[in-house]
Amino acid sequence: MKNKLIIANWKSNPIKRNDGEKLLKNLVQTIKTNNKVIICPPTIFLSHFLNLFSPYFQFGVQNCYSKDKGPYTGEISPKMVQDIGCKYVIIGHSERRSLFNETDEDINLKLIEILNTTKITPILCIGESREERAQKKTYSIIKQQIKSDLKNVDKNKIKNIIIAYEPIWAIGTGIYAHEQEIVDAKNSIVKILCDIYGDIGRKIRIVYGGSVNAQNIESILKNADMNGVLVGGASLKPKEFSFIANFK
Ligand code: 13P
Repeated sequence: MKNKLIIANWKSNPIKRNDGEKLLKNLVQTIKTNNKVIICPPTIFLSHFLNLFSPYFQFGVQNCYSKDKGPYTGEISPKMVQDIGCKYVIIGHSERRSLFNETDEDINLKLIEILNTTKITPILCIGESREERAQKKTYSIIKQQIKSDLKNVDKNKIKNIIIAYEPIWAIGTGIYAHEQEIVDAKNSIVKILCDIYGDIGRKIRIVYGGSVNAQNIESILKNADMNGVLVGGASLKPKEFSFIANFK
């Protein structure tokens, strides 16, 4: 099995920086792996964690804006993310789409800014809702998201993107997509990417997210042969996350 991407999305957790530091100290002791472990904590704690833990982990942010600087109160730009030493940014997470009304157009502008102005790797989240799956619309939803989110993205830069297939019904629910559902989604994504970009489409890394845990990691990484996982809840549990990160 090739080395995998193990991405932790801490979302808005923990409340105290000290608790995050303790978690990372624990992980430094317990994670021994050739997999690439990427931690995406709350942005406000990032500089502190980067100072202490950059020899052990890569770091990313959970969002950024589509402009490099200016009068955009509360926003951070891809260049700022790069400046503090982050190498990854999660874009278009379903929580941002649903809770903060982010549209495919917003996501597209962010991706273009990131790819045109920095060397940061965007992790683009896509996936269907429970109703869309029930109506057998998974393929058309994924296709529409990929087409709109990647509109006008330079073919030469496309290889640098990671796609996270995160079905909305699997996020934070304890219900995860089964092996065949993940393989089907992966094949659909590869086909859509190849239709747009040709063979480069096959080189784009695709990870799975949605109720990833110690029990299902083998089926996702080994059986479905995904390039990695995007882990929410389980990434805050040191024992469970170490098990996931150490998987080989
Ligand atoms: P859970 O692992 O808690 O389902 O969250 C998945 C997720 O949203 C990762 O980005």
